[in-house]
Amino acid sequence: MTTRRKLVAGNWKMNGLTASAAELGQMCDANPSNCDVLICPPYPLIGRFVGAAGNAHIEIGAQDCHTAESGAHTGDVSAALLADVGATAVIVGHSERRADHGESSALVRAKAEAATAHGLTAIICVGETLEQREAGGAGELVVGQMLDSVPDGATAANTVIAYEPVWAIGTGKVPTSEQIGAMHAALRAALVEKFGEGDGMRILYGGSVKPTNAAEIFAIADVDGGLIGGASLKANDFLGIVSAA
Ligand code: PGA
Repeated sequence: MTTRRKLVAGNWKMNGLTASAAELGQMCDANPSNCDVLICPPYPLIGRFVGAAGNAHIEIGAQDCHTAESGAHTGDVSAALLADVGATAVIVGHSERRADHGESSALVRAKAEAATAHGLTAIICVGETLEQREAGGAGELVVGQMLDSVPDGATAANTVIAYEPVWAIGTGKVPTSEQIGAMHAALRAALVEKFGEGDGMRILYGGSVKPTNAAEIFAIADVDGGLIGGASLKANDFLGIVSAA
């Protein structure tokens, strides 16, 4: 059986200013080493945070990247530049990007390819809306979304899956342990079928993870850590979640 080291990743979304380096500083002072830890701040903070993290066991990542190497894409950022400034991972296909920017799974897959081509870990997000869950068949839908979004060349070393039910993001609503377990088992089975080594690929859960529910969620089979939004902005909350991993 493969042992997968847990990963707790913070997605700061469009939050934080230069002064937020103080929160990162507190996280680095604690220097957690029980699991892998990643913070994904907005683009302009990445270089500064890479410097601030120094030798602490905290990696810095981004929240999106473009598919192209460089070129006329105003406002976009390439995976090449992210790697160049010291990022080690990038979130792709977050539901907010899929909804706000109409990103398709095909585009997400191309972004993941660009990321891994530059040595970044691609954290590929999938998840159903409330309407989709209530209509039934969320498992099949999310597995399909994942298979459409993950590049053929994905490996356990360069790819992480994040299951984030859209209705649980920022709402305080969390699926039952049975619901999370069933979805992660379905995603795991699909990964093993497609990649063989899917056994080693990490599958994170995301959506209203807090210090108070993290231990229970991380104990579910096939949950290999979490993608944390709101609770990653404050060092105390985030470190509480990290220590539960
Ligand atoms: P949340 O967000 O923890 O604030 O629910 C999670 C996410 O969107 O990654």
